[in-house]
Amino acid sequence: MKTIRDIEYLEGVKVLVRADFNVPIKNGVVLDDFRIRSAMPTIEFLSKKGAKVILVSHLENLEGENGSLEPVSKHLAQLGCSASFIKNWNSAPQILDLQVKNGQCVLLENVRFFEGEKKNDPKFAKEIASLADIYVNEAFPASHREHASIVGVPKLLPSYAGLQFENEVVHISKAFKPAHPFVFVLGGAKFDTKLPLIERFLGLADTIFMGGALANDVLKAKGFNIGDSKVSNGEKDISKVVSAENVIIPIDVIIQDKVIKDVKMIDGHDRILDAGPKTLEILAEKINQAKFILWNGPLGPYEDGYVEGTEYVAKMIASATKNGAESIIGG
Ligand code: 3PG
Repeated sequence: MKTIRDIEYLEGVKVLVRADFNVPIKNGVVLDDFRIRSAMPTIEFLSKKGAKVILVSHLENLEGENGSLEPVSKHLAQLGCSASFIKNWNSAPQILDLQVKNGQCVLLENVRFFEGEKKNDPKFAKEIASLADIYVNEAFPASHREHASIVGVPKLLPSYAGLQFENEVVHISKAFKPAHPFVFVLGGAKFDTKLPLIERFLGLADTIFMGGALANDVLKAKGFNIGDSKVSNGEKDISKVVSAENVIIPIDVIIQDKVIKDVKMIDGHDRILDAGPKTLEILAEKINQAKFILWNGPLGPYEDGYVEGTEYVAKMIASATKNGAESIIGG
């Protein structure tokens, strides 16, 4: 994997950095800038070497916001990168040629405003690529997406990984040669995107604990009544996961109004919203014995107040890490 350190000449070179600025924004203010700060070393590296840095990112439309990345450009300025904001992509070539000096940055409007992005339309990828000489991927959290700015553009331009992307790969690669016992805790939803991940780890992890909405799919496939609980669209064949001996799922759960129920007792209108205390006890024992822990996704909709299971897992992992285990948390 080539990184930006391998680029020999950058003075005056137009470098398109696909960043992930999909950050929470409220009333035009960035609420959590971790991802923006993570991209700063790459932006600074390229700017210092005289590149014209073109920042491209998506932002999933947020309720009450218009999906514009303009607040991110204001935030970038606070972090010391005064990237002028280009709302209209059509004006970008002219601005880049006539107004942007070597070492300066621009941020383009939300790439997902264009239909061609999610469709990975080759025509759209060509349009994006025409803006730059070099492509840099600094959007590790979005790199599982087969979108034009992620997989289309690098087919057309010399491509490199950003410094944070490299950092992420170095760390996550440890999960492919883990110390044992290795516990993989998986929550959240979207079985569609997570199935390849789970299947990849079936043979590597000693225990895979599945919680969150993912566990509902498994419970359902095993014949449990899951009432009104959230499940995936059922398009994927999850039989390998359902029958795997190292996969464990909740034996008790929290439903609405924080009622604890055995999974065998779920009724028609019950909604599974968190893992129950007996389940967390079993999981705690596994985590305590683990030498390596990988965690992705919450055990319930924490944004609606169902945080207990997720916080408990965080504390368990923190304490296992203090006792010498290694842990990676992502997603
Ligand atoms: C994320 O926030 O998880 C990444 O930016 C990917 O976003 P997406 O799920 O909207 O593609």
